[in-house]
Amino acid sequence: MSFTLPDLSDSPAERYAELATYARALLDGEPDRIANAANLSALVKATVPDLNWVGFYFYDGAELVVGPFQGLPACIRIPLDRGVCGAAARTRTTQRIDDVHAVADHIACDGATNSELVVPLVRDGELIGVFDLDSERTARFTDDDQRGLEGIAAVFVDSLA
Ligand code: SME
Repeated sequence: MSFTLPDLSDSPAERYAELATYARALLDGEPDRIANAANLSALVKATVPDLNWVGFYFYDGAELVVGPFQGLPACIRIPLDRGVCGAAARTRTTQRIDDVHAVADHIACDGATNSELVVPLVRDGELIGVFDLDSERTARFTDDDQRGLEGIAAVFVDSLA
């Protein structure tokens, strides 16, 4: 079996709509969270430009534990009261950080990272984890990126059994 990456439009909003459709097809019928997080990380890393880290942290009931990702090896466990990922999990709101160096408790896993987007993953009121994206470009993430990547995170949550 082989996969061809989708041919995406130039308009950011359309791009993400096309990517979400492709993501839904990629995950169709598969409820395994490791498999789906791995495939989504690979899809997003290959199609969304200027990302140096894309991946998942899962909540184990006490803290966030790194899951499937694309990028350099990362911090394994993140308490909910620390970092940008912890803030997303704790507040259950997307954290969009234009300059991570301006965030006092940002956890630097890859020193090359300058901006970050973290989307909380919540299903039926229960925290599952976070979808984390890092960029070497300052202020990499726009409103379109945030909306689009929240849509991709929703595809992941919907896929779970
Ligand atoms: N920077 C994140 C930690 C995770 S890594 O970026 C992969 C944070 O401050 O929570």
